[in-house]
Parts: sequence; structure tokens; C-alpha cells
Amino acid sequence: MSTQRPKVAMIAAGVTQWGARQATYRDLASEAGKNAFDSNPNLTPKDVDGIIASSVYPERSAYQGKVAPLLAETLGIRPRMFERVENQCGSGTAAIRTAQWAILAGAADVVAVVGVEKMLLPNPGEVFTNALAGLDRDWEGALGVTPPGAFALAAKAHMQKYGTTEEQLAMVSVKNHAHSMKNPYAHFHKGPDLDAVMNSRPIATPFKLFDCAPNTDGAAVVILANEDRAKELSDNPVWMLGSGQGFDAYTMANMSRDWSYWPAIEQAGRGAYESAGLSPSDVDLLETHDCFTISEILQYEGLGFCERGEGGHFVESGGSDYGGKVVVNPRGGLLACGHPIGATGVAQAHEMFVQLREEADERQVDGAQVGMSLTMSNIGSEAHCVLWGTDEVAAA
Ligand SMILES: CC(C)(COP(=O)(O)OP(=O)(O)OC[C@H]1O[C@@H](n2cnc3c(N)ncnc32)[C@H](O)[C@@H]1OP(=O)(O)O)[C@@H](O)C(=O)NCCC(=O)NCCS
Repeated sequence: MSTQRPKVAMIAAGVTQWGARQATYRDLASEAGKNAFDSNPNLTPKDVDGIIASSVYPERSAYQGKVAPLLAETLGIRPRMFERVENQCGSGTAAIRTAQWAILAGAADVVAVVGVEKMLLPNPGEVFTNALAGLDRDWEGALGVTPPGAFALAAKAHMQKYGTTEEQLAMVSVKNHAHSMKNPYAHFHKGPDLDAVMNSRPIATPFKLFDCAPNTDGAAVVILANEDRAKELSDNPVWMLGSGQGFDAYTMANMSRDWSYWPAIEQAGRGAYESAGLSPSDVDLLETHDCFTISEILQYEGLGFCERGEGGHFVESGGSDYGGKVVVNPRGGLLACGHPIGATGVAQAHEMFVQLREEADERQVDGAQVGMSLTMSNIGSEAHCVLWGTDEVAAA
């Protein structure tokens, strides 16, 4: 741990039920906001003086722009600072870091980070057109490179270089779907076994259906506060111990030539470890960006939980499950919870809130004191990472 006590803490958190929802953009925000305020009876909207919205394409999927003030009004907040963060799939964690900076700069004392995404309108096929807007328009998006195909290339590269097997990829899915059986908010409660994953329908070789995160509607809200307000408003805050960001390239053509290695993940993790004065062996749980099974394997490696090339063996040996080295995606990950892209990083922080306060019921990671959350964009070439800790760890 660094010698200084961290200055920003999470004092409330809530999520909606995730899935194909018959709910408007505003409804989703309102549901998550209510759950967040319900998580802390000392806190009311009047205490909150800042808001950061994390939404990627509300203009296309909800016909709604200028969402930060809309979300402030929906949650009953009259902020002195309101902004929107958009960094595609990594937006939620980037928004949390932006809220941290706003607090450290004194722009606000208590900031709500609100992640909302409607994914399935105007029709589910549109999601691909929307996703392509996050790629370089002139060269790559226009050619129609969709995420399943692009991530499949990373999986192939890892399989060729390190002998990672399709079964090992499938084990990530089996594990995360098993975790989601204990998360009432998850999109899916299917709990497939290895055969079911291996025999699910092909999507993009080597991926089958269960190797892919579904398209899902959902929202999540976390409320961060400076040290004084956190102590006034909460008996059990969860502290931001450190954070980092990593960048490799925007266009796929400029990414590191070896797609079995994502340097941006490593850089984001290093930033978080160094700013917190911690190392991978301190981390009890990891919420990571398993948009496809290969992503989680590359994140074990990039974040230092196993050696490069060993990710397949790591999941197979139980290293990323309860009883292993670090519990990865205890809420069910993107694979089973779904991926409403602007909300995902915020929902990961919600999981940190319940786990580090020992409120995660059946999926509680025993004795969890330090957790890490990471979301990324593109094919792992941009990443945002936060280390979280209990009051006890922060005070040490
Ligand atoms: C994998 C994918 C192509 C499947 O889409 P699809 O073929 O349109 O499938 P549908 O959404 O029509 O679902 C068909 C069925 O499979 C189920 N299903 C879909 N995705 C699933 C998943 N990941 N896991 C388990 N079941 C899934 C649905 O519930 C539905 O079941 P039902 O028939 O019992 O109702 C799509 O989910 C996808 O593109 N995922 C990746 C999203 C992405 O790129 N995100 C950004 C990454 S950073």
C-alpha cells in the first residue's frame, strides 16, 4: 500500500435487472438510482453535487442525447458538475476515473456515476452498426469487421502460439455462467456445462454462442465521495486504492502485431498496482471484461495473475475460481450478465461494493479485502482499471 490514505470512496451502489428489458432509457436509470440510494440510508440526492454519465450510443438506440443533465434530473440531483464519458465498451471504468478526478480537483464532493445502455433498439441488428461506430470509420468500420470475428482472430493467435484449446476457452464460460446462477440481476441463469458450451452453435471460429457475451439492456449507478463526505455519509465505504489506463492503438491495423498479447491491459494494470502500492498477489477478486472467452484469458496474463501463454491452463486448473488464486467475475461476467456497454464498468464497481462489504450473499468471496475491475475497448487495445479496498485496507 502507498503511505497516503486514498482520498475517494464509493458510498452507494445499485444495478437494474439486466436483460432484454421493456423499459425506457430513463426507466433503467431510475431503477438503478433507486437501488443505489437504497444501499445507503444516510444518503439522499441532495447530498450529491456531481454526475458523470457513461453511455455509448443513446443517440442511436434511445434517440436521446445530452444525457448527463437528463440523468441528473431523473435521479433528483441538482449538480454543480455534470459531464458524459464515452470510450465505447470501456466507458464505465473511464467514467469512474473521471469522477475521481472531479472530486480530487474539488469540482464536486459527492459524484454519481450513472451507466445506462439500451442495446436492442431500434432492432437487435442495429447493435452491429452501432458497434462499428467505435472503430475507425474510414478504413475498418466501413469494411464491417464485427467484434466476434475480430476477437476470434485473437483467440486463434493464442491457440497457435501457446496451444490454448477450445475446451479451455469454454471453461471460462462454464465458470462465469455458474457464477451468474447466484446473481439475481444477471441476464442469463443457464449454467451450461462444458458439453453444452462446446456444442452451442458456431458464431466465428473458434467461438460458439456461449463464448460470446450477449447484447443486453441495463443500468448501474455508483456514488463516490471525497474522504470527509465518505466518512460522514457511510460507516463502511469502499476505497479507490489506485487506477490506471492503457493505450495500444485506435485502428486495428496499428495494434501490436501479435494479437495473443494485449499491452494496453498490462499498462492499465501496472498503473493501478503502482498507484496503490499493491501487486497481483494482494487481489482477492477480479471483475474483468470477458466480452469473449479469450478476453478473460488474455486479462489473467496482462494483469499478472499468470505468465504470458498460461491463461488457458490457469482457468483449467481452477486458478480463477472460488478456492483459486483470484476469483474472477463472481457476478457472472459479461458472458452471463450481458454487456450494456456504458453500464458494464459501473456494474463491476457495484460488485466491488457488495463483495468488499461482505454483502454478496451466496457468491461472497470469503475474506475479500482488495478487488480489481477492468473494462476495455477495441480488441483489447484500450483499457481502464481500478483497484478497490475495504476501509481496513485503506487505513493500513
Ligand atoms: C453471439 C451473438 C452473435 C448472438 O446473437 P444472435 O445470433 O442474434 O442471438 P439472439 O440474440 O437472437 O439469441 C438467440 C438465443 O440464444 C440466446 N443467447 C444469445 N446470446 C447468448 C449468450 N451469449 N449466452 C447464452 N445464450 C445466448 C438467447 O437468449 C436466445 O435464446 P432463446 O432462443 O432461448 O430465446 C451476439 O450475442 C453477439 O454479437 N455478441 C457479442 C456482442 C459484442 O460484440 N459486444 C461487444 C464486445 S466488446
